[in-house]
Amino acid sequence: MKRKIIRILSKKFSKPLTCLTSYSPTISKILDGNVDIILVGDSLGTTLYGMKNLKGVTIEMMKKHGLAVTNNVQKSITAIDMPYKSYTNKRQALKNAKDIIKYTKAKLLKLEINKKNMSIIKYLSEKNFNIIAHIGVTPQSYNDFKKIKAVGRTNIQRENLIRLAINAEKAGAIGVLLECITQETAKKITSSISIPTIGIGSSKYCDGQILVFDDLININKMEKTPRFVKHYLQFANLAKKAVQKYSRDVKKGKYPNKRYSYK
Ligand code: KIV
Repeated sequence: MKRKIIRILSKKFSKPLTCLTSYSPTISKILDGNVDIILVGDSLGTTLYGMKNLKGVTIEMMKKHGLAVTNNVQKSITAIDMPYKSYTNKRQALKNAKDIIKYTKAKLLKLEINKKNMSIIKYLSEKNFNIIAHIGVTPQSYNDFKKIKAVGRTNIQRENLIRLAINAEKAGAIGVLLECITQETAKKITSSISIPTIGIGSSKYCDGQILVFDDLININKMEKTPRFVKHYLQFANLAKKAVQKYSRDVKKGKYPNKRYSYK
């Protein structure tokens, strides 16, 4: 598996990496083998549990959903988020990283990074964890997602983000996830480091792309869809129509008919 991770995460891999999130067995089975990486994202807090932000996501939630995913993935590489406040110092980060990886057997661990916690990346990398450093918009630091705006427009932001990515590579990260970073800055980051960049809302100038699966199929109808989200399926609409048809059929005595009854 180590060799597969290195091959897939190699910048020399000819095509962009494809990544999606999953929190459950059913979705994992759909994604397995059809994307390179499946991420058990802490976005499950808002997407699945209906929380307002990610601050209430716990290690236990990540472990339970993580195991449900890894048990149902054979071909893709699995990655998992460390939740909010689970890596505030080296000792705590190591304890929680060991706990999550031992329980779920996920191959990659993703942490949101700023210049203050870079030493945690170094420490966990030295302990042989495969770390993805998440930079740009880091959702764990937001109370209100409506306040999220793309970053990397100003020179200062651009320089800080490039430095962060370079330092993440030096610290031993094996990939950098760029969230909501402007096109030019994403391009500069990607060309400044030799580990792959995986973008969400960060343009095509990344070595790979990730989306939240629920957004891809539009299962949670959003009040306002972020600019970068492309709905490949209108699942909520289709499912609602199916439910209405089922209700009509039952009320009219059309379902279950003989075809759906035992003799
Ligand atoms: O938690 C998550 O789903 C993520 C994606 C937004 C990349 O981190």
